[in-house]
Amino acid sequence: MAVALSEIPRQSFKIRPLAGHVGAEIIGLDLRLPLNDQDFASIHRAHLDHHVVVFHDQRITPQQQIDFSRRFGVLQIHVLKQFLLAGHPEILIVSNIVENGQPVGLGDAGKYWHSDLSYKELPSLGSMLHAQELPSEGGDTLFADMHRAWDTLPSALREAVEGKQAVHSYTARYSEGKNAANWRPTLTAEQLTQVVTVTHPVVRTHPENGRKALFVSEGFTTHIVGIPEDESRDLLQQLYAHSVRAENVYRHSWQAHDMVFWDNRSLIHLAAGCPDHLRRKLYRTTIQGDAPF
Ligand code: SIN
Repeated sequence: MAVALSEIPRQSFKIRPLAGHVGAEIIGLDLRLPLNDQDFASIHRAHLDHHVVVFHDQRITPQQQIDFSRRFGVLQIHVLKQFLLAGHPEILIVSNIVENGQPVGLGDAGKYWHSDLSYKELPSLGSMLHAQELPSEGGDTLFADMHRAWDTLPSALREAVEGKQAVHSYTARYSEGKNAANWRPTLTAEQLTQVVTVTHPVVRTHPENGRKALFVSEGFTTHIVGIPEDESRDLLQQLYAHSVRAENVYRHSWQAHDMVFWDNRSLIHLAAGCPDHLRRKLYRTTIQGDAPF
């Protein structure tokens, strides 16, 4: 018989903010165990306040990652079906490993700063990434705080972009990822219908914490609507440079079995990469968010 969430005992864990402005560690929580409503609410709050939360040493199965992700909303299925985990299409394999001449996952995911699925009408609320295999060198993931980027933006830039819309496109840099390993296979006509370009506000309001955030990224934003192309390029470059200043960034150095959960409405992120000969594999789930406003 299923146990009601309210009857599940609380777990004993701590939420420890990381040094700097972004991120917290959740110490002592075991994601294999069921989570009651109060514990869930604490984690939800930490996610909103710190934007990225790190759970160390989580020996969870793909299904447990999916179940935990689903507590936050509907899961999104990535357009590149060939890189979804067999039997678990909610999981995108992020990996540089090539086996029998075929990539096992998306090898260049996160090569440019981006917010996951910002190219969709309903971009991702948040993403969870669970480490499966880590390189002995490199492979970090960086997170930049887009609330702080907005809060500290010089007033001339604020005035230039507030109220503006920008176009986001999955295919903006797609062909740059084409390589011998075929991480970016040619999209079928059906796949192309899933990634038509969309327009979102350059400055969005977070639907849960109420704060404003810049919502543009070098990965998926192509231009700001209604201004000349060169002006748009120049403005976007200034926004990108401002967003990823060192004091605005948390750099996560992965440890075995880490699970990291970030808020795509508050952050952009970047995969720093690792030497090609070292194996790196992580499982990603993405949770659907609201239409940005
Ligand atoms: C991603 O952009 O979702 C992947 C990040 C990473 O591999 O570090």
